[in-house]
Amino acid sequence: FSPRLLDRCRVLITAGPTYEPIDPVRGITNLSSGKQGFAIAKAAVLAGAEVTLVAGRTDLKTPAGVKRIDVTTAREMYDAVMHEVSQHEIFISVAAVADWRVANASDHKIKKEYAGTPDLIFEENPDILASVAALENAPYCVGFAAETDNLIDNARAKLFRKNVPLIVANLVSDAMNQDTNAVVFVERDAATPLAKATKEHIAQALIAKIAQEVN
Ligand code: PMT
Repeated sequence: FSPRLLDRCRVLITAGPTYEPIDPVRGITNLSSGKQGFAIAKAAVLAGAEVTLVAGRTDLKTPAGVKRIDVTTAREMYDAVMHEVSQHEIFISVAAVADWRVANASDHKIKKEYAGTPDLIFEENPDILASVAALENAPYCVGFAAETDNLIDNARAKLFRKNVPLIVANLVSDAMNQDTNAVVFVERDAATPLAKATKEHIAQALIAKIAQEVN
């Protein structure tokens, strides 16, 4: 792994889960730990990149040399990414972003005694990756896809829908909240599986792949 692969390249990464409030004490989130995204941030720094990491809720330590922006909701993540993106040549969207938020979230704790079973109304969150890929001066965009079935077909459908050149496909059971991962690099005309490995190893392989594509 060469330390000069992404020399001085500016890389923006999202990682971890988003959290969508229902009321001040309850919310909807997912099982993403942030480990894969943080490992990619670390590998990018090792490759000589300047790295900005937009992180959902996680207790993970910030890798040395990384600029970190903490967010909670998908809309906060969208705002942070849109604010930063023009300063970056590469965008890697590792975060598990909630597709929906609760439109009728309450400012007060919902009381069981008064409210019975609450009726939650959902509305769609912005698609951060698709929005970045659609920008006029879009960076090189890499998406992830966490699937429970039809891994490669679903990942390739995302590649076309979000209009990005590379999707890193992984099974939820292999990837989420694990220390290891097994991924497939899915491109328009190719699907390249990598052997199961630590998230640090997967991160270095991804950085090497991206360096090959952008240099
Ligand atoms: O955090 P870990 O525990 O280490 O787990 C890693 C991981 C499983 C979270 C990671 O490897 C992964 O697969 N991340 C993507 C999770 C996912 O479910 O993505 P998706 O299929 O919902 O979305 C596809 C792509 O669009 C992703 O790049 C996602 O970041 C992006 N997206 C999705 C929705 C949205 N509103 N905005 C987005 O940018």
